Amino acid sequence: MTSAYADPPPVTVRVPAKVNLELNVGPLRADGYHSLSTIYQAVAIYDDVTVAIADDWGVTVTGPLAAGVPTDDSNLAVRAAQLLSARVGNVEPVHLTIRKNIPVAGGMAGGSADAAAALVACDALWQTGVEREDLIELAAELGSDVPFLILGGTAMGSGRGERMASALARGTFHWVFALSDDGLSTPAVYAECDRLRARAGAVVPEPQPTPELMSALRAGDARALAATLSNDLQEAAISLRPALGEILAAGLDEGALGGVVSGSGPTVAFLVATPEAGIDLAVALTASGTAADVRRATGPTHGAHIIPARVD
Ligand code: C5P
Repeated sequence: MTSAYADPPPVTVRVPAKVNLELNVGPLRADGYHSLSTIYQAVAIYDDVTVAIADDWGVTVTGPLAAGVPTDDSNLAVRAAQLLSARVGNVEPVHLTIRKNIPVAGGMAGGSADAAAALVACDALWQTGVEREDLIELAAELGSDVPFLILGGTAMGSGRGERMASALARGTFHWVFALSDDGLSTPAVYAECDRLRARAGAVVPEPQPTPELMSALRAGDARALAATLSNDLQEAAISLRPALGEILAAGLDEGALGGVVSGSGPTVAFLVATPEAGIDLAVALTASGTAADVRRATGPTHGAHIIPARVD
């Protein structure tokens, strides 16, 4: 017989990875962040985060990329659950299970994605009644790109990346991602960007979205979009990890329409015209030996959303 006080059933949320179609980095702000103008796109590589009522807070990480994810209180998904708990009060602790597919420290928002999923999952499990815009505000406290992982699709980010406006995008784009074995530290890549700019004596303007990129998105034109992919952190990521320059060159040689380092790297994202071109590029990149692993994915896709519980 089921008790009247039985715990609610676990909730599983699926959350995508992201790629930055452009990442325009402005001046360093007084709070240690840089002002950004970026266009995010959610891509169909997913982590699943399950939350279940437990006696104590905890996290288990499973899946092909579980290694390297912290399982103590520094885990961003645990911090997200605890932040929401503190906000609403009087809820029971949860145990989180993260099935990890998104590269760790890869510039695809792997940690931020899990934090977004944990917020959405705990909100449903505890039935908090928190308004969506308040949830997105909590997301911004956890990291600059966490709000986007709740929203999904294609969106413009400003401020330090956390202020969202949706961007019109037509159709589906086909991506090939070249992964690296070792992650890059986001603060280290921003610091390298500052160092290179200071050395060049560059004057850094406030960043703006690029009109040509916005119209390529509106037209669903992969070739035009490929010509406008850009990332102000790319030079810094290559400076710290010169092999990324070879990966970029290999992808372009092998027929990609365009390529760019994703976020703070080290993942390199290539845009191709068709799914078949994606398979060909993935095979060629794998054979070239430049990338540790290669993944294909389409974008845009949905942000963090509840799915039926896994049965395995
Ligand atoms: O917001 P998030 O915690 O993901 O940022 C990680 C680090 O990346 C920050 O501590 C900062 O060093 C750098 N960063 C930045 N400017 C941004 C976003 C991130 O300098 N707009």
